[in-house]
Parts: sequence; C-alpha cells; structure tokens
Amino acid sequence: MTDTDPRFSKILHDHREIETAAKRIGAQIDRDYAGKTPILVVVLKGAVMWAGDLFRNISIDVEMDFIDIASYHGGIASSNEITLRTDLTSDVKDRDVIIVEDIVDTGLSLRYLESLLSRRGARSVKTATMLNKQKGHKVDIRADYVGFEIDNEFVAGYGLDYQEIWRNLPFIGVVNPDIYS
Ligand code: PRP
Ligand code: MN
Ligand code: MG
Repeated sequence: MTDTDPRFSKILHDHREIETAAKRIGAQIDRDYAGKTPILVVVLKGAVMWAGDLFRNISIDVEMDFIDIASYHGGIASSNEITLRTDLTSDVKDRDVIIVEDIVDTGLSLRYLESLLSRRGARSVKTATMLNKQKGHKVDIRADYVGFEIDNEFVAGYGLDYQEIWRNLPFIGVVNPDIYS
C-alpha cells in the first residue's frame, strides 16, 4: 500500500542505491583481495541480481560459481533446516571464497555455508550480503561486507521472493502484511 504498489507497505532501496552499494563493496574487495583470485559463491536463487551488480563492480581477477540452498520454501519464516539443492562445480580447497547472499536473516544459511566451505578446505571464507537483518539473527554470525542493514520486517524484490515471485522487481520493499496474514 505504497502510493504506487499495494503489495508493499514501504520501498526500502531502489536499483540505483543497490548499485551504489555494489560499487562500494566491489572497491573494498579489489583492495582486500589484491593479488588474489577469489571465487564468488553465489547463493541461489535470491542472490542472483545482487551478484550481477557486485561482479560487474569488481576489477581484480575473480571466478564465479553457484550453490542452491533453501530453507524458506517461499514462506515468510525459516524452516530452520537447510536443503542443498544444487552443489558447486568448483573445488574450493585452498581458495579464497566470497559467499554472495541477498540477505542474512536468522544466519542459519550462512552458518551452513561457512561450515561446508571450511570443511572442504577453503583458505578463507568471507561474505558479501546485500541485506543484513541483525534483529533476525538466531546464531552468532557476521557478514564481512554489508550493503544495507534492515529492520525485522519481511522484504521482497531484487532477487528476494515471496512464494517464489517478485524476485524480478527492481527494488527491495517491505511486504504489506495484509498479503500474508
Ligand atoms: C533466503 C535468502 C538467504 C536465506 C537467508 O533463501 O535468499 O539465502 O534465506 O535466511 P537465513 O539467514 O534465515 O538463513 P531461501 O531459503 O528463501 O531460498 P531462495 O534464495 O531460493 O529464495
Ligand atoms: Mn537464498
Ligand atoms: Mg526465498
């Protein structure tokens, strides 16, 4: 019920602001990984749009791979159980890995990925997330690069889904609670 879109109670960030955040983090990654060739591990499906922005704004040599995990199954709350749907194709042993997430909410997905990548012998594991919902964290976890901090509200758009739709929207918005209550 914004003036323009009844699906959302508030628009948080549009694609221009998101691109600006990607430029800022891309420049940090260029500095932090100078002389290295990290692998961006894009967490499907939510991180797809943000990963494109971030990837385009990194200038050093960098690889990209994909992993598909899920725990929300389209709903508004985590099932607290992570399902690995499609694995990486790269060997991460002795590699510098940057996990690319759209959002860290409970932190369970990130904890799962960090432990998976460490078990496989990654040399370093850091995370670049578009959104961090600090008040949603259920585990003690920290993302290294954060686009925006957000409040404890259910958001969608720009890769994030509500029941698998709205990932295509060019902004992040707070979903109107009337939609799911
Ligand atoms: C969402 C989101 C993150 C994760 C964050 O993925 O894209 O990957 O949950 O939540 P958490 O911190 O509480 O674990 P989801 O399971 O909805 O799959 P999707 O990316 O395919 O939508
Ligand atoms: Mn996801
Ligand atoms: Mg989802």
